[in-house]
Order: sequence, then C-alpha cells, then structure tokens
Amino acid sequence: LPSLAEEVTAIWRRDPMAVAAGDRTYLVDIGRGIVEERFASLLGRSATILLITDSNVECLHGERIEAALRATGSRPVKVVFAAGEKQKQLATLGQIFDQAQRGGIDRTSPLIAVGGGVVTDIGGFAAATWMRGLRWIGVPTTLLGMVDASVGGKTAVDFGDAKNAVGAFWQPSAVVCDIDWLQTESKRNFVSALAEVVKTAIVGDAELFETLEQERELILQRDPDLLADVVRRCVRVKARIVALDERESGLRAVLNLGHTVGHALEAQGGYGRWTHGEAVSLGLLAALRLGQRLGFTALEVVSRAVGLLKTLGLPVWLADTDLKEAAELISYDKKRAGSMLRFVFVKGIGEVNCQSLLLEDLRDLMPILSD
Ligand SMILES: NC(=O)c1ccc[n+]([C@@H]2O[C@H](COP(=O)([O-])OP(=O)(O)OC[C@H]3O[C@@H](n4cnc5c(N)ncnc54)[C@H](O)[C@@H]3O)[C@@H](O)[C@H]2O)c1
Ligand SMILES: [Zn+2]
Repeated sequence: LPSLAEEVTAIWRRDPMAVAAGDRTYLVDIGRGIVEERFASLLGRSATILLITDSNVECLHGERIEAALRATGSRPVKVVFAAGEKQKQLATLGQIFDQAQRGGIDRTSPLIAVGGGVVTDIGGFAAATWMRGLRWIGVPTTLLGMVDASVGGKTAVDFGDAKNAVGAFWQPSAVVCDIDWLQTESKRNFVSALAEVVKTAIVGDAELFETLEQERELILQRDPDLLADVVRRCVRVKARIVALDERESGLRAVLNLGHTVGHALEAQGGYGRWTHGEAVSLGLLAALRLGQRLGFTALEVVSRAVGLLKTLGLPVWLADTDLKEAAELISYDKKRAGSMLRFVFVKGIGEVNCQSLLLEDLRDLMPILSD
C-alpha cells in the first residue's frame, strides 16, 4: 500500500484544475511524468482505445505513449497522420473513421488524442462525431495545446482556407498536461505559444504577468516547475471565463484580445510569414497602442507589455505597409452589429474591456499603430 506521504505527493504532482461545463465538467491534470499514472486511472479496463497522434509526436514519444496504454491492459487502435495544420481537414477525419471501423471502435471505446492543437482539435471532432459521440481524453504535447486548446471544448477541422470551419463543441472527459512533453517542442512553436500566455495574463492574471517578467530566463529554458505553474494559471483564467460563457455569447470575447488585428496579419502574411502566436504578439501590440491612442490604456501599461513580449523573443514591430494591407482583411465579428465590431482593449494588467468600434474607424487608425 502506498504511504499517506506518497499519496499526497502523487496528488500534489498532478494538481488538477476543474473546468466547469455543466454535466460535462472535467479535470485538467498538470504535472511532470503523470501520463502513465493518469492513463491507468482514467482508462480503467477499457478494452479498445482509439489513439490519435501525428507523425512527429509518434516519432519522438510514440513508444512511451503505447507502453502507457498497454500497461492499462487496453488494446490501442492507432491512427498516425502527417504533422501540420494542412492535415487538419476532412480527409484526415475519413482516415480516422476508416481505422475506427476496422478496429471495431464502438461507443464504449474512448478516444485519446496525443499531440499539439491540431491533433486535439481533430481528435476531439472525431470523438464528437463517430457513432454520435465518444468520450475522449486530450493529451496536449505543446504549450499552446496545454494553455489554450485544453479548455473550452472547441473541436474542429479546417475547410479549404477557412480555419476551424467545420466543428463542434464537445468537452473532453479529461485532459492530461504532462509538462515533460514540452522539452522537445520546437523553439519557434514554444515561443509563439508564449504570446497566448502573455495575452491570458493581461486578460486575467496580473500575478502571472509578474512571474513572466521576473522569470523569463527560466521560462525560456523550460524549467518544468515554472511551466507547470504557468500552464495551471492559464488554464484557470480560461476555465473561469469559459465557464461563464460556454457557447461564446459574449464574455468569452475578452479572450480575443490581440486577435482582431492578429488574425488579419496572419491572413495578410498568407499564413506562412507569422505563426499564429507571432501574429497575436503583433495584434497585442496594435491593441495596446490603439488603446493608448483612444485613452483606454496608460503608456506605462503599453511599455510593460511590449517589453515583456520583446524579451520573450516575440515580434513587436509593425510596418506601416503591413498594417494598411491587414486593415483590409479585418472582418466583422461573427455577431456583427451593423458596421460595428467588438474590440478588446487593455485597461491594466489583468483587466480588459470590450468596446464597439466602427470598422471604418479601426481601418483608418491602423496605419498610426506602426513604428
Ligand atoms: N480548440 C481550441 O480551443 C484551440 C485553441 C488554440 C489553438 N487551437 C488549434 O491548435 C492548432 C495549433 O496548435 P499547436 O501549436 O500545438 O500546433 P500543432 O499541433 O501543429 O503542433 C506544432 C508542431 O509541433 C509538433 N509537436 C507536437 N508536440 C510536440 C512535442 N512534444 N515535441 C516536439 N514536437 C511536437 C507537431 O507535430 C507540429 O509539427 C491550430 O490548429 C489551432 O487552430 C485550438
Ligand atoms: Zn489564439
């Protein structure tokens, strides 16, 4: 029998966060080396499991994942697709369903998606739709997957050029964030995800913002204990907001901070120039400067936020020409009200608010946001 101290240590090591989603409330476990123990208790005696992953994760961590699954006594039916956003499409879903059918995956079989946001988005959507819905466990292996895609229940694939055009809200039954995976993530992808971390701190956690300022070296060195804390705090902020607005009717819009201009810059660069996170960094910069210009944001706040983004290695330089082109690509909110758009401004670190802006006004103001 494990001693009390061992049990306490085990719980402390995984330190779960609850994500409230009505009767589909679930836990996000965050810790180091927790995947084996979590699989054992989450899967119980599931006979067959549909395991979804991509080629990079399979290559780096496939053995550990399969060993952990086999140790529970389950038989994994594995689907590995080529890594990258290009694969986040209906054809890959067909590939998954094909394997599911051949492997005898029925409604009692859980699905496990192990990988970055692409894998958890597509895996979650496969879970939402196969046999009208399987229970699924998200195992994010990238920083973005842990801090952003792990909460909110959004699952999707792209359709042509339209990102996340086909999808569903389908909550996982558990999410396991094993911080150890992050050691192998590419530098560019890791740093890009830090833009979402900074955004999350500005939206709702001033203390996290201070940690990022003070510990940036250790964070860039991927200190596991610090990263576990960062992931936990981001999950907490997003979970709090999403719990109040599960179907994205209003409040959740604050999470769009930096994304109105960010998405436009991403599109302007043809989705190849900037990663999503880099575009968000520039979008944050634009939102901060616009806020300053319109009197919502103090200069000191702008300097602090821009300083942090820069020291984390994120881009903070906007060219006039890029902004002019991007301005044309800013689109209306999904919930449009005439030609108005809801724009998220920074009031202070840990405090934002939404204001309606005329799209035309925003477009006119864009060039003044450059250096
Ligand atoms: N559902 C949501 O709420 C939500 C939120 C944010 C982002 N997303 C989606 O997430 C996707 C982006 O996520 P991402 O940045 O994780 O992209 P990704 O899944 O493409 O992963 C990035 C790259 O890292 C590789 N990789 C994954 N884990 C690794 C590891 N541990 N070590 C080494 N390499 C690893 C992948 O194979 C891929 O090449 C987008 O499709 C986006 O739409 C969804
Ligand atoms: Zn984003």
